[in-house]
Amino acid sequence: MKRHRASTGFPRTRMRRNRRHEWSRRLVSENQLSVNDLIWPVFVIDGDNKTEDVTSMPNVQRLSIDLLVDAVGNAKDLGIPAVALFPFTDPALKNAQGSESINPENLVCRAVRAIKAAHGDDIGVMCDVALDPYTDHGHDGLLEDGYVVNDASVKILAQQALIQAEAGCDVIAPSDMMDGRVREIRNVLDKANLDHVQIMAYSAKYASAFYGPFREAVGSTPNPAGGDKKTYQMDSANSDEALREVALDIAEGADMVMVKPGMPYLDVVRRVKDEFQVPTYAYQVSGEYAMLTGAAERGWMDGERVMMESLMAFKRAGADGILSYYAVAAAKLLKSN
Ligand code: PBG
Repeated sequence: MKRHRASTGFPRTRMRRNRRHEWSRRLVSENQLSVNDLIWPVFVIDGDNKTEDVTSMPNVQRLSIDLLVDAVGNAKDLGIPAVALFPFTDPALKNAQGSESINPENLVCRAVRAIKAAHGDDIGVMCDVALDPYTDHGHDGLLEDGYVVNDASVKILAQQALIQAEAGCDVIAPSDMMDGRVREIRNVLDKANLDHVQIMAYSAKYASAFYGPFREAVGSTPNPAGGDKKTYQMDSANSDEALREVALDIAEGADMVMVKPGMPYLDVVRRVKDEFQVPTYAYQVSGEYAMLTGAAERGWMDGERVMMESLMAFKRAGADGILSYYAVAAAKLLKSN
């Protein structure tokens, strides 16, 4: 680490000189946020011309596929590079095995096909790989005697990845935190001649309370059977472990890695970027969005300014991009400036 020492000291060194004028502040700014850094997570529901508010996420709605196709078109026109799809699954379709996850006609696959038919390669489509939107117990994998089993879960997760890729998904994003899932997904995709499909691994995903609003948004069980996801997602106390997770995912074939949640884990983003120099993403999760937007709604903070400041923080920490529910609002603001 370089040590910086003010050699001549005050008053010759005046840090405020460079900050005096707006042009100068622009000139010395070290990081930039652009629309190219944004991935927009969206929630999809069955039906036609249907929207539903997510009460814990102001201004976020679940959209039926027809409306989602239009919304993704707007995102594309703003220059947003990719969207990440999350399905709200009809509770009647859930079971212990999460078998709807491997139905090629499921909601998320139909949404991928519709978006790709309308927009082609002008915008990327990402899909989550995990069972929690599909299981009645709310876990990301299969339960046996109250424990989420690894290897059997990996098998079904790889099938889930396969049907999503076959539907036209560009980026497979395993968020389940099972061991070895990236390798298995890569193998299954390659065998199916889907070697061009990218993998963005949720590599350092923490067992976090900041996912609360998301679980409302997708209708997954807020408290999965067994209480929490701590036997597979990471402990918030750890960051060396995050580096091991990232190293494994890269070795198994991940093209991009992710840290999640975002703002409470910026130190992890920085460590990952410094250590590996691979495309590194952070997920500004539902709880972060709810926290900032909720406070702004009450007039306690300036909503636009905290939005932009929070996104810039990810860039400063070394992220190459950010999954954010603010993507569209931020892209509009960036365009108008
Ligand atoms: C599914 C998944 C979750 C999120 C993304 N994919 C929830 C969880 O693991 O419980 C959270 C996203 C957010 O909070 O915005 N495994």
